Amino acid sequence: MISTTQQGRFVGKAAVVTGGSRGIGAAVARRLAAEGAAVAIGYRGNQEAADALVAELAAMGGQAIAVQADVADPGQTAALIERTVVEFGHLDVVASCAGVEHFGALETITPADFDRVFTVNTRGQLFTVQHAVPHLPAGGRIVLTSSVSASKAVFHHALYAASKAAVESMVLNLSAELGTRGIAINAIAPGGTNTDMAAENAQRYVHPDLAGTQEPARLLGTRYALRRLAEPEEVAAGYAFLASEDAAYMTGRTLRLDGGAF
Ligand SMILES: NC(=O)c1ccc[n+]([C@@H]2O[C@H](COP(=O)([O-])OP(=O)(O)OC[C@H]3O[C@@H](n4cnc5c(N)ncnc54)[C@H](OP(=O)(O)O)[C@@H]3O)[C@@H](O)[C@H]2O)c1
Repeated sequence: MISTTQQGRFVGKAAVVTGGSRGIGAAVARRLAAEGAAVAIGYRGNQEAADALVAELAAMGGQAIAVQADVADPGQTAALIERTVVEFGHLDVVASCAGVEHFGALETITPADFDRVFTVNTRGQLFTVQHAVPHLPAGGRIVLTSSVSASKAVFHHALYAASKAAVESMVLNLSAELGTRGIAINAIAPGGTNTDMAAENAQRYVHPDLAGTQEPARLLGTRYALRRLAEPEEVAAGYAFLASEDAAYMTGRTLRLDGGAF
């Protein structure tokens, strides 16, 4: 277990983490808190997990709150940001981790599927940035979430992959705009990471010709130089780097944290 430290890079900082109740976002919240940040954990529906994480961080001496906020609704995102600022008095770091998966052959994709995936993965991240920026000081840092899928072809994955590729372009272009305010914006593109999302979808990443031939996570691992999926904590370390002064001269970039995916 990580214990909070007064020596951390985020002592005196306040952070908001969307999608913070589970998976990568929860690991990011733990890591930022362990390095001293006060953390607002945004979640969509899983209040139990969010509250348990708040209790866990408080037990370690951290400061955390859980706030229900569906990033598909910009009004709820705005309320999450406002609540964070009211609670902690300032906002320094934004980690946008909320996301949803989609697999489906071209002919099966509906306009409703398109809207659901882009509304959360793309539109949701843009409005998180829009609502946070007025509160961020010079030196504020934003980390969005892409995916290795943005730059790798996978069967039946066009919709999800495109929603994430758009995020990389968003980060690149917003960096110029936000640079004038001294705010940095980058993204992490994780490879396969051991979370609920991966557990639910691992078999779909396997090419249909190989379906059923081997255990999906093992087969998937063969597509990574490190021969395994990431643990959420390993990916969270990348978010903490981009959210910290260690990345002071980095903006507009997407960091591939993908175990050497090929
Ligand atoms: N796992 C991977 O292999 C992988 C690889 C590349 C990229 N990613 C990306 O990394 C991010 C985190 O993925 P994960 O694997 O940790 O996913 P996960 O285990 O499915 O957790 C998803 C998190 O996002 C929240 N969320 C989902 N829709 C939301 C919405 N509309 N509004 C607010 N919160 C919402 C969930 O909240 P509730 O708990 O309340 O449902 C949960 O906290 C996503 O953007 C995903 O696309 C994941």
